[in-house]
Amino acid sequence: MRLLSTLETLAADAIRAAHGVDAPAGVRPTTTPEHGDYQVNGALPLAKKLAQRPRELATPIAERLAAAPAFSTAEVAGPGFVNLRLAPAWLAERLLEDARDRARDGIPTAAPVERVVVDFSSPNIAKEMHVGHLRSTIIGDAMVRILRAVGHEVIGDNHLGDWGTQYGLLIVGMREVGSEEALAQDAIAELERVYRYAAERAKTDSTFADAARAELARLQAGAPENRALWERFVAATRRSLEAIYARLGVTFDEWLGESAYHELLPGVVSELLARGIAREDDGALCVFFEDDPELSKVETPFIVRKKDGAFLYSTTDIATILYRRDRFHADRSVYVVDQRQSLHFRQLFAVARKLGVEMKLEHLGFGTVMGPDGKPLKTREGRAVTLASLLDEAEERARARIREEGLDVPEAELDAVARAVGIGAVRYADLRQNRLSDYQFDWDKMISFKGNAGPYLQYARARIGAIFSKGGVEPSALELDAPLVLEAREELGLAKQLLTFGDAVHAAAEGYPHLVADHLYALAREFSSFYEACPVLKSAGATRDTRLVLCDLTARQLERGLGLLGIATIARM
Ligand code: ARG
Repeated sequence: MRLLSTLETLAADAIRAAHGVDAPAGVRPTTTPEHGDYQVNGALPLAKKLAQRPRELATPIAERLAAAPAFSTAEVAGPGFVNLRLAPAWLAERLLEDARDRARDGIPTAAPVERVVVDFSSPNIAKEMHVGHLRSTIIGDAMVRILRAVGHEVIGDNHLGDWGTQYGLLIVGMREVGSEEALAQDAIAELERVYRYAAERAKTDSTFADAARAELARLQAGAPENRALWERFVAATRRSLEAIYARLGVTFDEWLGESAYHELLPGVVSELLARGIAREDDGALCVFFEDDPELSKVETPFIVRKKDGAFLYSTTDIATILYRRDRFHADRSVYVVDQRQSLHFRQLFAVARKLGVEMKLEHLGFGTVMGPDGKPLKTREGRAVTLASLLDEAEERARARIREEGLDVPEAELDAVARAVGIGAVRYADLRQNRLSDYQFDWDKMISFKGNAGPYLQYARARIGAIFSKGGVEPSALELDAPLVLEAREELGLAKQLLTFGDAVHAAAEGYPHLVADHLYALAREFSSFYEACPVLKSAGATRDTRLVLCDLTARQLERGLGLLGIATIARM
């Protein structure tokens, strides 16, 4: 359930009943557990607004809350807070409801249901996917899963950079130094090699550079030969990308790369001109934002057609928004793209508003992955670290760590477990961060069975499985009819944490997947305290039944929650 939002509603209802006003109740966990579980802060700002004394305002609110079944006590404290203590019987009933909810494990559905496009991963063809694209892929995939879990209709779209100036260079470069064999074996590596050669050569050899420009123009004009070559570049790249996505467990509903919008671009630009949204400036067509208090301060206009007539990344993005509105009837479109592109998206969204687009548009930016030296992660040779090599290393290190820890993993399962642990560790290390922060890549902290790391949570899940097998209890056969009894402090603590799963997942769906990670880590810790203090299999009667339900729901939330982050769990380790 969503315990926090339920308490907020109960407290706001009490404010309305006591004072006849709608005001936020501001319910928060108390900082001092000896005074209660939660506190209502809303009386303070309300008193200011109504020019009344806060404690006087708080008293009738507290009286009403004290009478509600959810609370065992509700008391005015300090300058005018209301401290709340939750009633164990009420908590126990809510817990039972979540335990019975096998289909959703207590995640309520969103209302209204929206159709959401998640634009993520979106690497540029002919360039090896590097760690920057890793973040977009991992965060975007988690967003897809989380948005689906709260009930939205989601379209995951890989907006490949498959249409740009590099193709002219690739076409001429391929003719001179390309190898068909290498292209078939490892397309991205070969295309990258050819591209590097051609880009370098074009700098000094103007005939070569002219040839590249001419080939690009021929490609964009639809010359069949160039088109065929380009299609092979794209298809080969896509095969290499698919291999990486398969390792990460990432899928897309659409692969609408930039090229998919190519034919729409002249129409988009004519519309911008006809409606007076774009105008000519020094030969280029641009959108200016004189009417926007923030964007008008920015020097760079939003260019939609260059002086030489070429369209840009920006133009394609406008066409993409219109396409998502008209074809997908999307209510919301989220872009999981490096924070360094934030100006591009602010300008893009402003153009969409000028065009009358009402769809919600959100840029979910993210920071940079740093190496141990505190600088953006690079290989020893100073090149960008490729995704494939990073995933290889993660699996190798996971395997070594599993051996060191002496975990109970049969030889036959070692490969699969090392993969789940290694890839899970990489994903978790990224997702536990607030996406806007840069983070430091640290293998030892990442692949750890202690502390805030993916393997620790996988291990916590497996340990609960072991409790059930040891006791010969089948979790799906637990009786969920009789009332539960929550008595020990640790039982209550764990129950409260479990009941905030829905809050965490819904808040994460607003663009903050790290909130799911936070929840799971806090849950694993509450579970540890509980398990240390409260014997499960050795207890009896209603206490044992209650503790088994607490174990089962914890295991289910860990499993489902890790699943939302795209992390596999392991039955035994
Ligand atoms: N291909 C771009 C890059 O690698 C990211 C594209 C993001 N999506 C978008 N609709 N602009 O920087």
